[in-house]
Amino acid sequence: WANLFEPLGSFVVTPWLIMAAGTAVIGSLQFGYNTGVINAPQNIIQSFYNETWSSRFSEPISQGTLTALWSLSVAIFSVGGMFGSFSVGIFVNRFGRRNSMLMANVLAFIAALLMGFSKMAASYEMLIIGRFIVGLYSGLSTGFVPMYVEEISPTSLRGALGTLHQLGVVIGILVAQVFGIESILGNATLWPLLLGFTLLPSVLQCVLLPLCPESPRYLLINCNEESKALLMKLRGTEDVSEDMQEMREESLQMKKEKAVTIPELFRSSVYRQPIFVAIMLHLSQQLSGINAVFYYSTGIFERAGVSQPVYATIGAGVVNTAFTVVSLFVVERMGRRPLHLIGLMGMAVSAVFLTVAMALLDQLRWMSYVSIAAIFSFVAFFEIGPGPIPWFIVAELFSQGPRPAAIAVAGFCNWSANFLVGMCFQYVEQLCGPFVFIIFTILLLGFFVFTYFKVPETKGRTFDEISAGFRQSAGRGSDKYSAPEEFSTLRGDDPDL
Ligand code: GLC
Repeated sequence: WANLFEPLGSFVVTPWLIMAAGTAVIGSLQFGYNTGVINAPQNIIQSFYNETWSSRFSEPISQGTLTALWSLSVAIFSVGGMFGSFSVGIFVNRFGRRNSMLMANVLAFIAALLMGFSKMAASYEMLIIGRFIVGLYSGLSTGFVPMYVEEISPTSLRGALGTLHQLGVVIGILVAQVFGIESILGNATLWPLLLGFTLLPSVLQCVLLPLCPESPRYLLINCNEESKALLMKLRGTEDVSEDMQEMREESLQMKKEKAVTIPELFRSSVYRQPIFVAIMLHLSQQLSGINAVFYYSTGIFERAGVSQPVYATIGAGVVNTAFTVVSLFVVERMGRRPLHLIGLMGMAVSAVFLTVAMALLDQLRWMSYVSIAAIFSFVAFFEIGPGPIPWFIVAELFSQGPRPAAIAVAGFCNWSANFLVGMCFQYVEQLCGPFVFIIFTILLLGFFVFTYFKVPETKGRTFDEISAGFRQSAGRGSDKYSAPEEFSTLRGDDPDL
């Protein structure tokens, strides 16, 4: 590990750091697992809905009701996510980062039981409520995990370690896709186990978390206890003066700031610009259409004439994971901005190819291969930037004071957009047919332009330097949404780009 990361900084990646980050990202894995788990077994679980409906009402379920119930089962996960992500601030400051992660597991247990026993109880309601509750858990995780991981990381590795959250998500999706194969758990008998499996990672996290340190940054800034000792353990050296200095600066800065609530984030000219950037980055992640693929790709591949759609879906999961690893290794060299831009543009182009392939499918059968390639490249470009970056950049854009509120707001917007895509995709697809991805192309191009003009680079800057950049630009009273001046060189003149 140390060697792999050597070019990125002089830090040794200690076993403690790996253990703490690795345990935290079990939460991300859960989020990914539950994102991907309902994709492959869609038809089988729909048959269960149909049977349950028939035995209750003595008539088969109508297609309309089935689509509505299924879209709800998929998308209610994101409603849970919206509530969960919005509540992050309530927990992290009161209980600390680590204990908040620990407590959230209660939700995963309840959800696993509800979903796992829904078939036995002949109740699709239990499944739907279980999806909501595991959504709550996942929403909390999308706040807790990046915050904790970023706070325990040295500055030079913050992007790489921040990407671990997304790596956890994509591995979770992939595991869910593989388990969803018919001969494993994706069949009429075992699908309740597929959904209930989410219990096991939670047990593991509950065992490991008590062994992990609390975020030293949180301790220093909020309670002023034992942070130095924990930091020495995480860094594997007694010389933690640089980190301590950086945290003290952040802490001093924080004492100058008033406590920041969510409404204040929008009212204050200092925070308005970074919160706007954070929200737009999160919207760009979800409105790129990525979850149209991760919720519904088996159906999309089926309609694109692919003979083994479940395997094509797994292929998408493999590409997804591989490119997250690529991003992990390049994010500290290339920076956040260029990767996000490349990702958005690549996705827009892939979506055009996908549309052409779907539109010409009736004339040219081999277009089904083009559609597979287009979806794979859509996913690959997503993971280069728009996948991992929004999740960790919010913690970078804000100092401790406004950070929890900002993460809550950004997470809420992310999950709302996630809900929108999950709920509406099937309907819009029925309406637009093969042209449905054009909508995402237009949105992607819009987000590209936004990122180009408004998003600053955060690579290699301390939290304090980043917020100072925004403070200065707000103080100057210049165009309130323009990227701070000291970042502007990164737009054109930086030789690294
Ligand atoms: C991101 C998104 C999530 C999506 C995943 C795909 O984590 O937030 O909604 O399913 O990437 O890899």
